[in-house]
Amino acid sequence: MTALLNVSGLSKRFGAVVVADQVDIAVYVGECLGVIGPNGAGKSSVFNLIAGTLSPDAGTVRFDGVDVTNVPAYKRARAGIVRAFQIPQPFPKLTVYENLLVAAQYGAGLTGGAAEDWVVGVLREFGLAAKAELFGGSLTLLDRKRLELAKAVASKAKLLLLDEVAGGLTEREVEELAALIVTLKRDHAIIWVEHIAHALRAAADRILLLHFGKKLLDGPPVEVLGSPVVKQIYMGLAADEAA
Ligand SMILES: Nc1ncnc2c1ncn2[C@@H]1O[C@H](COP(=O)(O)OP(=O)(O)OP(=O)(O)O)[C@@H](O)[C@H]1O
Ligand SMILES: [Mg+2]
Repeated sequence: MTALLNVSGLSKRFGAVVVADQVDIAVYVGECLGVIGPNGAGKSSVFNLIAGTLSPDAGTVRFDGVDVTNVPAYKRARAGIVRAFQIPQPFPKLTVYENLLVAAQYGAGLTGGAAEDWVVGVLREFGLAAKAELFGGSLTLLDRKRLELAKAVASKAKLLLLDEVAGGLTEREVEELAALIVTLKRDHAIIWVEHIAHALRAAADRILLLHFGKKLLDGPPVEVLGSPVVKQIYMGLAADEAA
């Protein structure tokens, strides 16, 4: 089986700031790759490079068997690379159902009854059926985050790029969101950038550590989160003290 996303030798700098330094990433449908790294490590920039809102200085991005390195962002989105952000932005004056219908129509290209049936399925999958008639702007933060993920699925995303989506939630809500993300692995490849380690521990199959744009570690969550390198970077301890 080939990876849905295959990033190779990806490099990008802004003047002296290196945000991607020869980064290789492979992600398969069925898995969630967690990404950690200190503020400014280049995590969101790597997402921009994958989504196509930023062009690399070097390297390639292959998605679904196609080299998309020079393909514009809107075409990558249509092909199934979809992002979700920390602050969800549903259309506040549209209902949950209507928000998803927009994603089904403009993201997935569905029309008429096919779009409506698809949205009903997504509502059910996300436990939002009872809230279908509520306005997007009236939802709790957790439900807005659920809707943000549901919109990505409604637009027929194949690769979900989640950028700190657990931010602002209580610990219990983080657990609920992580459990939902686990269910999305069934049909999607997921990359989840998150500062909240226990959320990644619950959902990620592997964790990648980015530092100054360089991939320092990529391995099982327990190994990476327990690594002296991580402790050193986050706590400023010497590796031998942290071990
Ligand atoms: N368009 C840009 N022009 C110049 N510098 C940029 C640009 N985008 C990002 N940077 C810089 O690149 C570095 C990496 O930023 P990035 O947003 O990718 O980090 P991050 O790992 O997502 O950080 P955080 O954890 O704070 O979200 C930062 O120093 C940032 O200021
Ligand atoms: Mg960021």
